Amino acid sequence: MIERIGIIGGGQLGRMIVPPAKELGFQVKVVENSKDCPAGQVGAEVIEGGIKDEAAIECLVNESDVTTWEIEHIPADLLVELQEAGHDIQADPATLMIIQDKLTQSCYLQSLGIPVAPFSEDLEASASLGEGPYVVKSRKGGFDGRGNLVVDRLDDPRIAEKFQDAEMYVQQKLEFEKELAVVAARDVRGNVVTYTVVETVHEDNICHTVISPAEVDSSVHKKAEDLAREVLKHLNGAGVFAIEMFLVNGEVIVNEIAPRVHNSGHLTIEANKTSQFEQHVRAVTGLPLGSTEQVAPVAVMVNVLGTREGLLDRTGIDKIAAEKDTKLHLYGKTPRIARKIGHVTTLAATFDEALETATRSREHLVNL
Ligand SMILES: Nc1ncnc2c1ncn2[C@@H]1O[C@H](COP(=O)(O)OP(=O)(O)O)[C@@H](O)[C@H]1O
Ligand SMILES: [Mg+2]
Repeated sequence: MIERIGIIGGGQLGRMIVPPAKELGFQVKVVENSKDCPAGQVGAEVIEGGIKDEAAIECLVNESDVTTWEIEHIPADLLVELQEAGHDIQADPATLMIIQDKLTQSCYLQSLGIPVAPFSEDLEASASLGEGPYVVKSRKGGFDGRGNLVVDRLDDPRIAEKFQDAEMYVQQKLEFEKELAVVAARDVRGNVVTYTVVETVHEDNICHTVISPAEVDSSVHKKAEDLAREVLKHLNGAGVFAIEMFLVNGEVIVNEIAPRVHNSGHLTIEANKTSQFEQHVRAVTGLPLGSTEQVAPVAVMVNVLGTREGLLDRTGIDKIAAEKDTKLHLYGKTPRIARKIGHVTTLAATFDEALETATRSREHLVNL
């Protein structure tokens, strides 16, 4: 019987898993640097340690009936060992191993015939990619675009400056029509559900807006959902997965996969019968999966990003609270430039109304 859920990482993703987990009667413990981390603030027990701290992770796994994670930059080798020793770890650590190195991930997907952005393992061999621009990416550890550098030429000195000793690889920079994402979940019995295909809008490599449903033809919705289901067939383990995609000339190709709850699914808290966070809890604990049906015609989420260092300024929260069918989620994080510190979701009858209301709502926060 599963009673105790362990989560490696106690940031905003871990934090949003806590309420549905507790409502379903589970105890939640996380590994995170401080007791005051976002998940700790909402009642998760905290084992203090970094997300790469092997002793802390081992302790978490020993004190949990199932262990999962909110971030993929964690010691996968250790999780493989702990799984072999009989611990329940979801998704499969072997899946984490493939995904946490973006080059391994691209090679794996390509070997399965799944379309990915053209890539090259090293700068020398990238002539095969043709003319720039290119996106040079850290193989490991990148998030919110921080591991990426867009360049026109591969002799750009900024490449050596940014990556130094870190391993990187090169992708062709695609002229996509839209970015799409599918959040999916698989339970321990292998049942799979998907959420509505969403559009994600990134600026400077970081997600700003998510729109559900994506405004694309029904044929594209089907292609994206089919692609997500195909991807899942090749990645073991239970839990939520997010598949980030590019829409290029009417075809969908995979950008990257996250084996965890994801920013593309934050709007499911209000917009769907079962949020991605509750779904993840259900998936990893052996409960049946819940309905993914969307309850409003359109939902839009905008991220609240920090623009300075310092304490949170609550000015404007009253105005957000007065907006129709709009909900603010703050994560209890100290603002820093470009740091995700919260999000706003609006449900509406039309695309324009949802986008306008959500965008205006975020702008009520005047001094982030
Ligand atoms: N090959 C590419 N062509 C065009 N844009 C890209 C490419 N790769 C990444 N991007 C842009 O950068 C964003 C972040 O890149 P991604 O590889 O998903 O990194 P992260 O792990 O930080 O999310 C993408 O969502 C997209 O907007
Ligand atoms: Mg990404």
